[in-house]
Amino acid sequence: MTKNNNKEFTSFICDILENEQFLETKKDLHHGTSKYEHSIRVAKLSYRLGKFFKADLRGVTRAGLLHDFFLGTRKEKPENSYLRHPVTASNNAKKYFNVSEKEAEDIKTHMFHHVLLKKIFPFINYKEKVSIKEFKPKSKEGWIICLSDLLVSIMECERFQFTYVANVTLLLIMNIVLFKN
Ligand SMILES: [Fe+2]
Ligand SMILES: [Fe+2]
Repeated sequence: MTKNNNKEFTSFICDILENEQFLETKKDLHHGTSKYEHSIRVAKLSYRLGKFFKADLRGVTRAGLLHDFFLGTRKEKPENSYLRHPVTASNNAKKYFNVSEKEAEDIKTHMFHHVLLKKIFPFINYKEKVSIKEFKPKSKEGWIICLSDLLVSIMECERFQFTYVANVTLLLIMNIVLFKN
């Protein structure tokens, strides 16, 4: 990132980076890194893609940074689960940073790739119900955050490739066995 872009990027998010509640995300492990670092990577990529696609840069950067703003792991509480944490993060972003309704919606729809995956492989998080209509990104910024999260997650999980591939294979086998008819 150029010096000017870095300055602009930081100016969009400096209040969030100083917030005590947001700093708590440093304690949470996420894809083998901290949730804080993961969120900054997603915000940076959202900013870059936002520039490329001429999106609302401030909005896409802030919503990108707050997309996983929930405390604790996904397994600790039902509201932190794979498919519910976007709603929790969206509510937290409204509560602590007064984000706009549109930014809140962009946060809520960031797991759309996972929603699609669940529709193809129902065994994934089988207890949870999700609707494509509700969780489909509604704006350019929403699509950018969803794509950024997916790309950053793949990059982060690649470091744990064996476990990742083993987990996906196991899920596919269970899916075929349990839903073959
Ligand atoms: Fe997420
Ligand atoms: Fe994420």
